[in-house]
Order: sequence, then C-alpha cells, then structure tokens
Amino acid sequence: MKTIKDVNLSGKRVFIRVDFNVPLDEKHNITDDTRIRFVVPTLKYAIDNKAKLIIASHLGRPKGKVEPKYSLAPVLKCLGSYLGREVRMAPDCIGPEVMALVSSMSDGDVLLLENLRFHPEEEKNDDAFGKELARFCDVYVNDAFAVSHRANASVASITEHAPVSVAGFLLQKELEYFKRAMADPQRPLVAVIGGAKVSTKLAALENMIQRVDKIIIGGAMANTFLKSKGIDVGSSKIEEELVEVAATIIRKASEKGIRLYLPVDAVAADTFSPDAVTKIVPVDEIPKGWMFLDIGPATSLLFSEALYDAKTIVWNGPLGAFEMDAFSRGTMAMVNSLANSHALTIVGGGDTDTAVHKAGEADRITFISTGGGAFLELLEGKTLPAVAALMKAGE
Ligand code: 3PG
Repeated sequence: MKTIKDVNLSGKRVFIRVDFNVPLDEKHNITDDTRIRFVVPTLKYAIDNKAKLIIASHLGRPKGKVEPKYSLAPVLKCLGSYLGREVRMAPDCIGPEVMALVSSMSDGDVLLLENLRFHPEEEKNDDAFGKELARFCDVYVNDAFAVSHRANASVASITEHAPVSVAGFLLQKELEYFKRAMADPQRPLVAVIGGAKVSTKLAALENMIQRVDKIIIGGAMANTFLKSKGIDVGSSKIEEELVEVAATIIRKASEKGIRLYLPVDAVAADTFSPDAVTKIVPVDEIPKGWMFLDIGPATSLLFSEALYDAKTIVWNGPLGAFEMDAFSRGTMAMVNSLANSHALTIVGGGDTDTAVHKAGEADRITFISTGGGAFLELLEGKTLPAVAALMKAGE
C-alpha cells in the first residue's frame, strides 16, 4: 500500500477522503471532534506540500437524500481553526458547480465537499460515481479508517479511476497499531470484550480466541456466557439462541489453554434506570426480576489482576451500562487498569472511546482507534474493503 509520503503533491489536486462522521448535539454543535483532530497531520502535510486540498466525507445516514441536518457545514469552522486557514464549502460533492470551484483553487486552498451520502450511489459503490469523484483528483488519499469497512464508492471504486491512490497518516497508524497488537504482539496479549450483545461480537470472539493469551468478557453479553454455565442471572438480557455458542467458546478457549474471565459479582438493579435500587451480589445470587447492569468490585479486582502481566491489551466494548453513573464503576475501573498498565494498550469502538474520555484518561492509552465497525472487523480478522482497494491500486 502506497502512502501520502510516496507521492509528489505540489500543485496537485489532492482528494482526501476522511471520516468526519462526528457526533452533533441538537443545535448541530460538534460534541467530540476527535475524528477531525486525528486527520489534521495528513491535511497539514498536504497543505505544506502545496497541494490543492479537496476534502470529502459522509456524516450520518441520510440514505441517499439531501437532508440539511446531515450537512457537513458544522465541521467547517472547527476544521478551519485546526488548519489555521479558511476552508470553503462546496454545495455538493460532484457536478459542474463543484468542478468550477475546484478549477479556481490555488495551491494551499482547502475545499470541503458536501456529504457524500446525499447520493445513493456512494453506498452502492457505484462505479460511475467513483469515476465522477475521481475527476477531482490528481492524487487520491484515503484517511478514513472508520469507514474503511464499507465498500463505498469514495473508498473503493474511486481507486479504480484515480491516477494514484495512497493511504493517509491516520489510516496507516490505525493499521500499524492493530498489526502490532494482533499480528505480532508482545505477549501476554489480553483481549477485553464487552458490550451489549454476543451476536455483534461473535466473529470477533471466535477470531480472538485463536490469537490471545487471555480473554476478559464483560457487559451485558457476559450474561449469555454466565447462563451457559448454568448461572441464573435473573431478568438480565440474554441471547437464548447463543447460549450454546457461548458454551462452545468457553470450551474452545479452555482446550487452547486460554484463560477466559467472566464476572464473579454484579451490580444488580431492580430496573434499567439511573435511580434504580441496586445491590452488589455474587453472579449466582441476582434476585429474581433484577438485572446485571455492571460488574461488581470483586470482578474489577479479578480483571485488573488478569491484566497485571499483560504486554498488549486490546479493549472493545464497555463492561456495564456506563452511561448511567450508578453502573459506570466497572468500565471506569477498566479504563484505569489500562491507563496504569505498562502494556501497549489499544482501545476501539465508539462507547469504549467515550468511556476513556469520560474518565479523562485518553492521554494514558497508547492508541484510541477512531473506528467502531471498522475496528470490530479488524478484530474479526477481516481485510477491510477500502484497504484491499488501496492495496490493489498500489500493485
Ligand atoms: C462510523 O461512525 O462507524 C463510520 O463513520 C461509519 O458509519 P456507518 O456505520 O454509518 O457506515
């Protein structure tokens, strides 16, 4: 895969696909600009190398229709202040008007295109749409790791038409950290997998047990694993159809000599609400009608000890309903364990990322991925379609 450093950018129209799918509040203010900040090095590098910079992204899921609430306009100011220059906004991402704007650009100018997903062809990986986008570029750069698991036109078919296609610094960094963690890790390698559902993490769990030395399972998905061991978890959410699968994962881990850790105690609650009545109980003593909403203190200690000798830790998914303070301690304790660890620590997934920021420990984690679905697909052992497209283009 070629990178942005392998090409001459001077005087060229450099089309950079980024992922500015940032969270917005009801007044359209950006509530977390991490995804913008993380691509600034690539954008500045292109500006410093006298490129004409054309930036493209999606925002939200407008489903192929123009919807003002999904406009990329809120990104403009923030981007301009990070780049220290004016950024112009195009009314669309293709068409004669955009071409006219691109043609009038001078070296160092920055143009932000409107949401790619206002066109249904983007998500269909439509070849003609990819070709249309490629008309704007002398150099195509993918720095949109977080959407690289989608075979969309702006990350896949565009590479068939652009004169040269390369990776930006963020995409490169994401893939390199992941490789350090999973392909060639310093051991012990420990995976911490949480979140609501086993079903969304199944492929990742199956791939991880081929690679890790220890695996820690928390969050609501742990209920299905506990159930598979015959533990009654009250009214906690369970995926009945996956109880057998969970038992198989436990068995496979044991056959391979992998230590698999499950919660031993729980913060049980009588309702799923911030003001629920709660108590800390062993996992097999959750009262009838109550549910498991966070790992308990004994589990936090157990998990933290399991991480003690780790040299590499990969974490995806919160360990409880951490969005409610009463059920956030387990997840926060995990953030602290990672922050205090001497291991290479890699965190991915929107909620996990939020938890790390909420705890104020982002600076003490080796790498926080900007990807949710993309990070999970790497954990599943898949090659991301956009990465495959870049590799093919670089052959
Ligand atoms: C993300 O936020 O994970 C990416 O921007 C991809 O968005 P999508 O799930 O809507 O394709």
